[in-house]
Amino acid sequence: MSTKVGIVGSGIVGQTLANGFVTHGYDVMIGTNTPGKREELTSKTKGKAKVGSFEDAATFGEIVVVATKGTAAEAALKAAGIASLKGKTVIDTTNPIADAPPVNGVLQYFTSQNESLMERLQAAAPEAHFVKAFSCIGNAFMVNPDFNGVRPTMFICGNHDGAKSEVKTILDRFGFEVADMGTAEGARAIEPLCILWCIPGFLNNSWTHAFKLLTR
Ligand SMILES: NC(=O)c1ccc[n+]([C@@H]2O[C@H](COP(=O)([O-])OP(=O)(O)OC[C@H]3O[C@@H](n4cnc5c(N)ncnc54)[C@H](OP(=O)(O)O)[C@@H]3O)[C@@H](O)[C@H]2O)c1
Repeated sequence: MSTKVGIVGSGIVGQTLANGFVTHGYDVMIGTNTPGKREELTSKTKGKAKVGSFEDAATFGEIVVVATKGTAAEAALKAAGIASLKGKTVIDTTNPIADAPPVNGVLQYFTSQNESLMERLQAAAPEAHFVKAFSCIGNAFMVNPDFNGVRPTMFICGNHDGAKSEVKTILDRFGFEVADMGTAEGARAIEPLCILWCIPGFLNNSWTHAFKLLTR
């Protein structure tokens, strides 16, 4: 029996990860709260992922992925049903991007430096095991990225070691080296990596890079 993954979020990240999990043998449901999008999602996942509401996806998944717009993430979790997340690994891909334009290529966040969106989500669903992942790379490189044989680094964090171990296995299959940045507070450092990642894109239309942590 393959592991069931429920994806709360129907944008490009939700679709990319849905297809990635299908490719890697997981049983996938992608969720949208816009019923009119369901047909398109079936087509975008070539009929290989089930399609439902946020609540359907969160209930279906043994592992749940949150892939909504940052400003909508808390509301989306509530729509998905906090109770159905209890005891589950929840992969948080979101970034707290404000509804305001970048300043000279630098995204604006609605969180401050001494907090993070993932901590807010963890507080909203205290019995879920949140793990930050996939937040610091563009969707084009989220599944088996090709950087001439070099594995990019995916920075993760979260409070539950078992959940992080589960996400490390997924990231290894998806072609990443993993750098564990500790507990949920680590998201205060990981989420801003998205700001850094996007600067070459906004300034020079260069979007084809990834982070690599060098160690010796
Ligand atoms: N795009 C990337 O390459 C990338 C890379 C790394 C991380 N991220 C992060 O991943 C997350 C998803 O990004 P994305 O680009 O796939 O799409 P997005 O446009 O940021 O999010 C789309 C999802 O957000 C939901 N949503 C939007 N407004 C909502 C509202 N007011 N109430 C409830 N739900 C709402 C949509 O719901 P419906 O399904 O009902 O339409 C949809 O499921 C974001 O937090 C982003 O910062 C993105």
